[in-house]
Amino acid sequence: MKDLLNETARRAARYLDGINDRPVAPKPEHVAGLEALAGVLPEAGCDPTEVLAVLDDVGSPATVATTGGRYFGFVIGGTLPAALAANWMAGAWDQNAAMQAMSPIAAKLEEIVLNWTLDLVGLPAGSAVGFVTGTTMANFSALAAARSALLKRAGWNVEEDGMFGAPAFRVVVGEEVHISVLRALTLLGLGRSRLTRVPADDQGRMRADSLPALDAQTVVCIQAGNVNTGAFDPAREICARARDAGAWVHVDGAFGLWGAASPKYAPLLDGVDHADSWAIDCHKWLNVPYDSGLAVVRNPEDLRRAMSWGNAAYLTQSAGREPWQYTPDASRRARGVELWAAMKSLGRSGLRELIERNCRQARLFADRLRSAGFEILNEVVLNQVLVSFGSAEETLRVIAAIQSDGTCWCAGTQWHGHTAMRISVSSWATTDEDVEQSAAAMIRIAGRK
Ligand SMILES: Cc1ncc(COP(=O)(O)O)c(C=O)c1O
Repeated sequence: MKDLLNETARRAARYLDGINDRPVAPKPEHVAGLEALAGVLPEAGCDPTEVLAVLDDVGSPATVATTGGRYFGFVIGGTLPAALAANWMAGAWDQNAAMQAMSPIAAKLEEIVLNWTLDLVGLPAGSAVGFVTGTTMANFSALAAARSALLKRAGWNVEEDGMFGAPAFRVVVGEEVHISVLRALTLLGLGRSRLTRVPADDQGRMRADSLPALDAQTVVCIQAGNVNTGAFDPAREICARARDAGAWVHVDGAFGLWGAASPKYAPLLDGVDHADSWAIDCHKWLNVPYDSGLAVVRNPEDLRRAMSWGNAAYLTQSAGREPWQYTPDASRRARGVELWAAMKSLGRSGLRELIERNCRQARLFADRLRSAGFEILNEVVLNQVLVSFGSAEETLRVIAAIQSDGTCWCAGTQWHGHTAMRISVSSWATTDEDVEQSAAAMIRIAGRK
């Protein structure tokens, strides 16, 4: 075992050492080479060192270098050194984080991390937190709590009686709602076509002046950090309207909520803490390994009720917090280990510096591209930049050429009738030199000097 783990560390270190010297996207021949892993499962097994060697030799070249400094696709963070080390340790521990009895260390770290997170991003102390796979499941879990609370108010027990015949309630979303919220609502039996959609402004912010009349049978889903522009819905105004009416506000804060960790960006989140539930991603801006997200609910009882298991005599209930009471799954890996390590290694100032550096780097991208004559389509308020290279055809050509060039990697999007390239700066590993090198490659490929 010891030799195998040493060999793993050697190979992993070699992979990470070379991450900035290889194309960000894998070469087609390396992707084609993955066939070497297939074939009929042999009758006889083989030595683990041999397994590891094939995995590294064939698999490593076919990875996307998302953990390097020049990956700007979707919204994807890297992995902080302490988080990677903790992930290895947790792998060795192989803890099931479902219950205190199964893993006191996993349960304790969840408790510590949830308090640190609420404090870091300014959410109400005492809120319940479920450790889930990402924002899609965080949206699902938090909206399950909202559904349970609203139907309970209407005298309906959705956990016992389900959705057939349940009193109707209304779900309000912004025009620019992220698809993961729509997916969560679909999974919860709330449908997509029954939603009330509120118009958004030119940055994708929900227009509070266009909100319908709210009441106690309404859930309003707002956004902290639009996936295209990085813009924030006006939380203070919407939450005030919702509070007066007794409506529930849910915030999809996948990456944007981390902005609250910086006094410079916290004003963009003004009033977000007045909502009832929140979804946060940790594999994005906190830079922990996949997968990791948090579902936060102001009233713990709402999340516990929504996630209840009915009668399950073998599930133990200790005096303290039982992790399984806050998530849709039971057995799961101990995500809190990496979260604790990431936060401990960064400290408050490290997280603040990471957020502020990535936002500054997004502005640097925008400056360089604008100076080269390209149009920036959004106000760069956070870490997201939308750039047009001209016509839709030209923009798509440039995106494809950037992806195959390999210096960096970005994807495309549509923004208010324009085809654009999205640049998302979300990694601890990104240096200013990475930004300069990537911007220069984009400008060269797009045919400007
Ligand atoms: C605003 C927003 N919400 C939700 C998600 C979905 O997150 P996940 O892929 O972790 O489920 C994303 C992903 O980019 C996002 O940007």
